[in-house]
Amino acid sequence: MDTAVTDPYADLHQSYGRCLRDKEFIGRFYDVFLASNPEVPAMFAHTDFSKQRLALRRGITMAIFHAGGSRVVDRGINEMAAVHASGGRCPVPAALYKDWVASLLKVVEEADPEADEALMARWREALGVVVGTFQGRDAAQATPESPAQAGARGLFSRVMQGLRPVSR
Ligand code: HEM
Repeated sequence: MDTAVTDPYADLHQSYGRCLRDKEFIGRFYDVFLASNPEVPAMFAHTDFSKQRLALRRGITMAIFHAGGSRVVDRGINEMAAVHASGGRCPVPAALYKDWVASLLKVVEEADPEADEALMARWREALGVVVGTFQGRDAAQATPESPAQAGARGLFSRVMQGLRPVSR
């Protein structure tokens, strides 16, 4: 892909490509991740892993583009953040993100023959950006509305009530 050439994380796109040459790569990630924390398996109890593996495969590509500052993947990143937010379909306790990152780093290090300390530091940095985005998005949603917003909402509802036909 052309974009990968100018992408600040072109090295990670290439590393990920080398990982994916092994068809079992994503499956191995889930083996490691499910074993990483006793809270994780229950969360995937009803998951169709044939779909999930494909979703994550694409999700990691989006994550690398996002970490590099690309806006092209904003929609996908927003969707993933929403799925994992506290009010989402699969709310993720904040503490589990570090297990997710550690699991991915482990399988990358094992799968990419060119993995060295410098490359793994780049991976850690890029994944940190995505996790930060997910958690930042979640915190933004959880932020209570400001008094000004609450006031405006109160005014809006009073006006709307005033417009409603009065039933006597
Ligand atoms: C930045 C890290 C993560 C990325 C990029 C990611 C990505 C994804 C993607 C792409 C999906 C599929 C969404 C869909 O079906 O619409 C998904 C689903 C899911 N993720 Fe994550 N995820 C991350 C972290 C985590 C963590 C830390 C957990 C903790 C257990 C987790 C648990 C789940 C669960 C339970 C599902 C739903 C599976 C189902 O549909 O049954 N994810 N994730």
